[in-house]
Amino acid sequence: MNYKNIFDLVGEGIIVTGGAGYLGSKIAEGLLDFGAQVTIVDTFDVMPSGRIPDEKSANLLYIKGDLSKTEGVKQAYAVAEKNMGKIDVLFNCAAYTGYAGTGDADAMPDDIWSKGIEGTLGMTFRCTREIVPFMKKNKSGNIINFGSLYALIGPDFRTYPEGFNSPPNYGAGKAAILQLTRHCASQFAKYGIRVNALVPGSFPHPETQEHVQFMKNLSDRTMLGRIGQPEDLLGAAIFLASDASAYMTGTNVIVDGGTTAW
Ligand SMILES: NC(=O)c1ccc[n+]([C@@H]2O[C@H](COP(=O)([O-])OP(=O)(O)OC[C@H]3O[C@@H](n4cnc5c(N)ncnc54)[C@H](O)[C@@H]3O)[C@@H](O)[C@H]2O)c1
Repeated sequence: MNYKNIFDLVGEGIIVTGGAGYLGSKIAEGLLDFGAQVTIVDTFDVMPSGRIPDEKSANLLYIKGDLSKTEGVKQAYAVAEKNMGKIDVLFNCAAYTGYAGTGDADAMPDDIWSKGIEGTLGMTFRCTREIVPFMKKNKSGNIINFGSLYALIGPDFRTYPEGFNSPPNYGAGKAAILQLTRHCASQFAKYGIRVNALVPGSFPHPETQEHVQFMKNLSDRTMLGRIGQPEDLLGAAIFLASDASAYMTGTNVIVDGGTTAW
């Protein structure tokens, strides 16, 4: 035997929801480097330029779609299957929180609460429900959900400067995604479908990184003393997407610089 190709993704058809975003675009780039065919579904008219280098885009399809509606999911998956021939892996990366004001739990109206739960848990559930028929047909499949630090621990509000917050519906929705991961892993194993979750720690966007004190606070909360960069997620993402993780289902892979181990 030779095991050096266990991370290969050649011939795999992979959908990345929210793949035009900060983390999803880097994950899509890594999947392309490992030989996968990748379909990104996101809300922009076209893939924002520069997110994935042009020279790596030969096996990339971008679909504009709204995954907050079942019809939008169905349409995107139909186009993805037609283009790639089959759907092997789904990265459930898309999320929106839709919170307003401070995000404080004692000030959040019902509609904002529901919007954040929908934008985390609801979208992941819908995108999972609609992908399963494609994977049942193939008698195999692999779903990777996105958790968060706040699926596992409470926010440390001492680290948040004025103007920054973490809304309660985000953490609650993400915690529920980890349970949905375990539930679906149990339910769909008999069809050869694996379901796991990738749990990123602090990967603030470039505009947030401009706040120096906030970045120091977040870095100090990690054992490794720094915030995450999108490429820090690639090893775990390729691992979960590939046969290297063939005996894993229903679990979480945490990439957080040690934050939750303290
Ligand atoms: N950045 C972090 O620090 C961090 C930490 C933990 C977890 N996460 C999770 O990682 C994932 C990616 O985060 P990110 O930082 O790249 O965020 P991001 O906002 O850059 O990317 C999310 C993408 O989802 C897309 N999206 C939102 N609603 C959609 C819809 N209705 N239909 C289709 N696409 C839609 C957005 O357009 C966006 O491109 C999310 O699930 C997020 O909760 C991020």
